[in-house]
Amino acid sequence: MTNPVFSALGTTIFTHMSALAVQHGAVNLGQGFPDEDGPLAIREAASRALIEGPNQYPPMRGRAELRQALAGHAKRFYGFDLNPETDVVVTSGATEALTASIMAMASEGEVVLIEPAYDSYRPILEAMGAKARVVKLAAPDWRLTEAALRAAFTPQTRAILVNSPLNPIGRVFDRQELEALARVLADSNAVAICDEVYEHLVFDGRPHLPLASLPGMAERSLRVGSAGKMFSLTGWKVGWITGPAALMRVVANAHQFITFTTSPALQLGIAYGLEHGMEFTLNLTRTLQANRDVLRDAIAGLGFKPLACEGSYFLTADIRGLTNESDRDFCERLVREAGVALIPLSPFFADGKPDNLVRFAFCKKRAVIDEAVARLRAFFK
Ligand SMILES: Cc1ncc(COP(=O)(O)O)c(C=O)c1O
Repeated sequence: MTNPVFSALGTTIFTHMSALAVQHGAVNLGQGFPDEDGPLAIREAASRALIEGPNQYPPMRGRAELRQALAGHAKRFYGFDLNPETDVVVTSGATEALTASIMAMASEGEVVLIEPAYDSYRPILEAMGAKARVVKLAAPDWRLTEAALRAAFTPQTRAILVNSPLNPIGRVFDRQELEALARVLADSNAVAICDEVYEHLVFDGRPHLPLASLPGMAERSLRVGSAGKMFSLTGWKVGWITGPAALMRVVANAHQFITFTTSPALQLGIAYGLEHGMEFTLNLTRTLQANRDVLRDAIAGLGFKPLACEGSYFLTADIRGLTNESDRDFCERLVREAGVALIPLSPFFADGKPDNLVRFAFCKKRAVIDEAVARLRAFFK
């Protein structure tokens, strides 16, 4: 008898659309990975460590150099005072960080998901025996409200997953929304698991506000980050969790039996990056913002209706001006007939609705975006 949570899962929409993209020679604006590798200096630092060592098991919570660099980063950007010994755990990507955090916090009881939601959250919490309760955001504003949060929270709520900037819709929750969340959390016994992998990829001068920076929230927040997104090194799968020592002790206990640790050379490469390579990340944000603008203007001219995008790698657009098909049918037709792969938004909602929105990834070279736009133009002319 297999675990019903995992036996019920199919292929993810990302794998499905990427396979179709390869099959049809399509330009892939589907899956969210950059097509240019991050800084050479970071890769050289990792490669030196690979040759010279250390190459044996690093400490379970991560190399001291990286934990210190992460504490320094959190101080520099948000003013947090983290103790690298007790408040930081290095993981094999944010996916593992999220799994360890959910395993540590959710048992029986309920976990609140904000939809659209990243696809790894629900299966893990359900496998832990928790039940998901959903706060569903609505287009075009996708705002988080206190009323919706209060309706989802119950005395059984153990945790809420908060992804900001939010994949796939590019929302960055503002102070008002986070204060509403903080009030609801303060009235509960729940913790927030904050998926902040796109923390630096925030546009138009908007600040990224970690929930943990609000009064009373540091004690009940776990922050998850990803070096892959920060330094365009997604294949390295180096991530982390930071939070208060009492919670981090339990998170570390879960982490030790998932991966225990992460390649020491990659950890040292990322430690170097956090200390010397943040200029890359800040420039990446400017490049991505310009890509967003080019893509938004181009697709608006073709009949898509782009929605606001405040951060992340992703721009979403309404397709009703172009078709009555479902988002999925439309994306499958587009990849076959126009040679451009996008991602339908409906798989990010448990009930598959709305199904009139598609996601474009703009973390690509400008030439790739231009080629996708040229193909779409030829198709819709
Ligand atoms: C919202 C969100 N969380 C977590 C992850 C996983 O990050 P990592 O590749 O570091 O595991 C992703 C990757 O796309 C993401 O978009």
